Amino acid sequence: MNTWKKVRPKVFWLSIIVLSAYYLYRAILFRFFNEGTGPTFWNKQFLFVFHLFTTLAPLILGPIQFWNKFRIRYVEWHRLLGKIYIAGSLLGGLTALILGITQPYEGSIVPVVILGLLWLFMTTSAWVTIKRKDIKNHRLFMIRSYTLALTFVVLRLLGDLVYKANLLFFIQSEEVKDATYEWMSWVLPLLIVELWISWVPALKKR
Ligand code: HEM
Repeated sequence: MNTWKKVRPKVFWLSIIVLSAYYLYRAILFRFFNEGTGPTFWNKQFLFVFHLFTTLAPLILGPIQFWNKFRIRYVEWHRLLGKIYIAGSLLGGLTALILGITQPYEGSIVPVVILGLLWLFMTTSAWVTIKRKDIKNHRLFMIRSYTLALTFVVLRLLGDLVYKANLLFFIQSEEVKDATYEWMSWVLPLLIVELWISWVPALKKR
């Protein structure tokens, strides 16, 4: 029991890192080698490349920033990497908004735009709170920001579950299926995280 408690965080982070690397590989293969980014530089080619390079920062730095031992021992590095994380998330979020508005799947526009705005809000709030030295709220906003960054992984994982394991078998229309798992990809993780960081602690308080 105790051993499982000890290894649990390691298993959790290892799964996140492996899934992030796997879906990053597949997304790059799909967009830059199979599907293509559009005929001209401004017709999304630039946006896709810029979005990829900026979002690599939150994807790679997230696990490092939440690693307690590293943060405590190398606080200067935590500060520097935190700035890169925030810059990457804000620029990646802005490009995500433009890509989201101009993408061809109409059922995905609203969930992607709300997600993009929320991601920008959570990341900016994490920055504002740490500037005020409010560490408690900085941590909470960073958890929300990174959870939303991980939509990149959850969306593709759900896509696999829907199309390979027939997860939404009761929905016939492919368009409704796609829009449903697009919403699920960030609403569910955000609700789970809120349950863990705010609702359960509020209920436990006497
Ligand atoms: C760290 C996180 C993220 C990484 C590494 C990342 C990476 C990528 C990559 C490699 C692509 C091209 C592959 C594809 O088209 O499927 C892409 C596309 C896209 N991403 Fe992200 N992304 C991240 C987060 C987000 C977030 C949070 C949003 C939403 C607000 C978003 C919105 C989009 C949109 C709308 C497209 C274009 C889809 C299309 O036009 O077909 N991304 N992303």
